[in-house]
Amino acid sequence: MAPSSSSTSVLLILLLSVVPASLASTPVSDGLELELGGDGLYREILRDETVLRLKELGKISDGEGFLERTFLSPASFRATDVIISWMKDAGLTTWVDQMGNIHGRFEPSNSTDKALLIGSHMDTVIDAGMYDGALGIICAISALKVLRVTGKLQRLTRPVEVIAFSDEEGVRFQTTFLGSAAVAGILPESILQVSDKSGTTVQEVLRLNSFEASADALGQVKYSPESVGSYVEVHLEQGPVLEALRYPLGVVKGIAGQTRLKVIVDGSQGHAGTVPMKLRRDPMVAAAELVVTLEGLCKDPSRFLTYDEECGCFTEESLAGLVCTVGELLTWPSASNVIPGQVNFTVDIRAMDDLVRETIVASFSRIVMQRCDHRLVDCAVEHKHSAAATPCDPELTAQLKRATRSAVSAMAPGGHGHGRAVGAGESTAATPVLMSGAGHDAMAMARLTRVGMLFVRCRGGVSHSPEEHVAEDDVWAAGLALLRFVDQHAVAEL
Ligand SMILES: *[C@@H]1O[C@H](CO)[C@@H](O)[C@H](O)[C@H]1NC(C)=O
Ligand SMILES: *[C@@H]1O[C@H](CO)[C@@H](O)[C@H](O)[C@H]1NC(C)=O
Ligand SMILES: [Zn+2]
Repeated sequence: MAPSSSSTSVLLILLLSVVPASLASTPVSDGLELELGGDGLYREILRDETVLRLKELGKISDGEGFLERTFLSPASFRATDVIISWMKDAGLTTWVDQMGNIHGRFEPSNSTDKALLIGSHMDTVIDAGMYDGALGIICAISALKVLRVTGKLQRLTRPVEVIAFSDEEGVRFQTTFLGSAAVAGILPESILQVSDKSGTTVQEVLRLNSFEASADALGQVKYSPESVGSYVEVHLEQGPVLEALRYPLGVVKGIAGQTRLKVIVDGSQGHAGTVPMKLRRDPMVAAAELVVTLEGLCKDPSRFLTYDEECGCFTEESLAGLVCTVGELLTWPSASNVIPGQVNFTVDIRAMDDLVRETIVASFSRIVMQRCDHRLVDCAVEHKHSAAATPCDPELTAQLKRATRSAVSAMAPGGHGHGRAVGAGESTAATPVLMSGAGHDAMAMARLTRVGMLFVRCRGGVSHSPEEHVAEDDVWAAGLALLRFVDQHAVAEL
């Protein structure tokens, strides 16, 4: 980060807070400004065209009648062509790297500053919605297009690059972040030998599509930390918090850490009619008790965790985002007239605070042993996966917050725009700060550089479903906030 740019952004923010939005932007000409929606809100690009493009990309599918676009599938290459054409339209230089990620970059000729990367993923789950991933890519392209159209692209003080990552969902190879992990340089070479359901390896799929697919080629995808200043991602929230707060956008404080456990409960298999209740060693009721206990641990952790004055760990704030889920439960032999012999279930624990998560894991493991002893069943807890939380960078988050506030208030009724990002009775006071319970490309990119994220309100909190929906004015608010962020972060004042 160049020392000059933070003072530049402070100045711009001061300007934005006292000067009407119509004066804060510097249109090339009044006519153009009017065409773009007036008042520096660029409705035609940031809302109308962005929404059209979301719909267009949402139709590019490998499935018939539903959206499915997985890593390096035929549809992903059709999507690549379309995204490249949009990047060019925004004035960017484009290329596809050796992992199928699409890059669109503007390189100021005389800048030595580190690049600002803005991205999200172009792959989808099966029967997906059209906003997950795509929203972040298209909003970023639209924001840069506004810079091109208003002549500000030429005033960029640092390289700015949009990346459409080829794989985040991990549907095809059951391994997430193939695209962003390669750019961050944390993708192991062994990934090339992982195979999909049909037995085709990552290497074979890459070669079939004319990629090099060697360890060397993978290495070339990696960015050097010295060349990158920050990574920012716009993503739909995929949860109900912003809708409940009646606010279109929120900044993300961090992405939760996660632990996955498997619990195996062994009892005595028997006849449902003949074994008296007192003599049973029933793993099903033991498992049921454990599932309910886990819920209690995460719903009301203060009953189980004591606040530690010295470390200051378990404040209300550090417990935020703590969620526990049992999503899979298997029984053997699974028959209505048989007391099960064995029950296995999965546990997913997430929290922003790694120490809180680890404490919950330890408490739960201890409780499992106590309850199982009490019920005379044998229990084992296996640790399957654990990932530390990814905090977002405080400075980037503060910049995104200011950009969001400025965008939302400009769009509010009585502001200078005509949008309904914040309707009557909705709060314009504070930009919500959220945690992300879901993983995102920003998690992988955090291994390369500092990251910031902006969440966009979605209807009903629904995602990974064709029911996924973001209001057109919320799409607009997201694009405008990102535009104002880039403007503060990377555009020189005249
Ligand atoms: C780069 O060139 C532009 C246009 O000539 C100029 O306005 C800007 O100040 C220069 N930036 C640097 C870092 O030299
Ligand atoms: C439970 O897990 C164990 C160990 O992975 C496995 O051998 C067993 O078949 C599983 N039982 C059920 C009911 O799925
Ligand atoms: Zn996503």
